Amino acid sequence: MAIIKVQKGTKDILPAEMPVWHFMEEKANEVFTKYGAKEIRTPIFEATELFARGVGDTTDIVNKEMYTFEKSERSLTLRPENTAGVVRAFIENGMHRLSAPVKLWYKGPMFRYERPQAGRQRQFHQVGVEVFGIKQATADAEVILMAVNYLKALGLNDLSVELNSLGCPECREVFKTKLKEVIKPYLNELCPDCQARYEKNPLRLLDCKVEECKEIYAKPEIQAIIQSDFICEECASHFNELQGYLNALNINYSINKLLVRGLDYYNRTVFEIKSNNLGSQNAVCGGGRYDSLVRNLGGEDTPAIGFAMGMERLAALIGNKKDKKTVAFVVSNSPLEAIKLTEELRAKGITAEFDLTNKKFVKQLEKASKVAEFAVILGEDEIAAGKATVKNLATSEQKTIARNDLVEYLK
Ligand code: HAM
Repeated sequence: MAIIKVQKGTKDILPAEMPVWHFMEEKANEVFTKYGAKEIRTPIFEATELFARGVGDTTDIVNKEMYTFEKSERSLTLRPENTAGVVRAFIENGMHRLSAPVKLWYKGPMFRYERPQAGRQRQFHQVGVEVFGIKQATADAEVILMAVNYLKALGLNDLSVELNSLGCPECREVFKTKLKEVIKPYLNELCPDCQARYEKNPLRLLDCKVEECKEIYAKPEIQAIIQSDFICEECASHFNELQGYLNALNINYSINKLLVRGLDYYNRTVFEIKSNNLGSQNAVCGGGRYDSLVRNLGGEDTPAIGFAMGMERLAALIGNKKDKKTVAFVVSNSPLEAIKLTEELRAKGITAEFDLTNKKFVKQLEKASKVAEFAVILGEDEIAAGKATVKNLATSEQKTIARNDLVEYLK
């Protein structure tokens, strides 16, 4: 019979890879907790409307990449990202009544119908943080620090932080109008996507990867607009304050005026962290401020900022981590004695196994040396004397000790 294979763009995370995943998850808990963040877990599917209104219906994510299905005449969508879901939960659970800032972190699978390639999957995992209730640039600085320090805790160094300010809706409108003006003469030469973006979301023109478009946007009169300081005084002073904090804390970053991000909810600060060792899908982290999203999704006016990181990309950078061996492998001709002792050890917090097939002594020892640090040998003499012989499988050192002292010795 034909075997059924894993779906394109999805992957099994096999036991041999789990040590890296546990490491990423444990470090997330450890680092984000230090900043006062609490974990939140929201459902994997939500009302389609949440993403249409939240992420924005001019984005590729909403237009092309959502896994949407109907159930009981409701349109549901597998979450393509988690900011919208966390904002929904924030509103629905009245979290605006909690004392600000409300700092939440999450991890879990996301779904985007994209063309799979190295570093880009259809089901992938994100770890992320959202901080609600603070409009000051201190929150922007703290969120960037959380991202940088998490990456440091994972042992990742060869990374660069890129920063930009998209201004507020008012100053951005002026910028969009100017940008459209200078690009207008070239409209017919742009790729079909850019022609659509020109009307719907001109900021996204800057993000186009098509060579012909990039050449057009490199023209001096267009660059003059792109590189201009278009943001209003208030947005500029917010951005300067943030840079002041980052400079004082020795966080290396560069300003990238082309950084516009692929989601519609951002204003002011946006940032990405990129790796030099990942090929074309090199962004490990993307984030920014989204001061209008809570209100746009029906909540109280609440400023917010956050980020998310692609865990598959982090895992690729971290590389392999060795799995821990079982501590004790109980070797005995009596399955009953073996199962009793193994359970006793497990109850005392020691990882332990025994041979479920009751093979010959020598075979059991062979198996033990493959999977465990110690063989705990229960021969007839040992059983009679209430003892066990412990063999260190790395050094072959052997010692017979009383059963009562066994746990202490193995620990
Ligand atoms: P995003 O830039 O769409 O932002 O995704 C964040 C990160 O998720 C990316 O930098 C990348 O590492 C990873 N990622 C995205 N798509 C894929 C994919 N198809 N395969 C593998 N990894 C992927 C957001 O999702 C925003 N919600 C971030 C945010 C949180 N902004 C504010 N708060």
